[in-house]
Amino acid sequence: MKKLAVFASGSGSNFQSILDAIERGKLDARVALLVCDKPGAYVLKRAEQAGIPAFVFNAKEFENKAAYEEEILQHLQYYDVGFIALAGYMRLIGMTILGAFSGKIVNIHPSLLPAFPGKDAVGQALAAGVKITGVTIHYVDEGMDTGPIIAQEPVQVMEGDDHDSLLARIQKVEHTLYPDTLAQLFKQ
Ligand code: GRF
Repeated sequence: MKKLAVFASGSGSNFQSILDAIERGKLDARVALLVCDKPGAYVLKRAEQAGIPAFVFNAKEFENKAAYEEEILQHLQYYDVGFIALAGYMRLIGMTILGAFSGKIVNIHPSLLPAFPGKDAVGQALAAGVKITGVTIHYVDEGMDTGPIIAQEPVQVMEGDDHDSLLARIQKVEHTLYPDTLAQLFKQ
């Protein structure tokens, strides 16, 4: 069975959807570790409630990316993690982790990449006036939301949508697409 680490820094609704899919028997994996770079993030509460260990760090307390990634790597090794799912982790993965987990890191992004990479993809879609946006699951490389695409699902932008309403519709799709895609990957 795959031992998974989820990297998240926000509310952790995607983290929760992965846990729920495992619980329901839809995803054959175990979340062995949460990695979080935002002390106080709600995702930490979710991990605590589910009894999942968390490594929380403050990047400012480290000399550079290599230094905190080295520490993350030690935790990944300690928990025997074989695969990483990014779910709202707001940092680029550096060579320290990429080198050790080549082809074994995926990310979820709230747009149809390559449209609207980077921060606030939902705001970018609204500002551009597109009628269709969506969700992408992709492998992670050294770029910003640039790795090979694994799965995508469109989401319609409705007349009168604001940031909250569009985000809610996108997240609803995320919460099934991410666990389903992981389940497919782990079957291969
Ligand atoms: C998601 O919308 C995901 O696509 C993006 O960050 C957000 C995380 O949300 N990468 P949550 O913390 O899982 O609720």
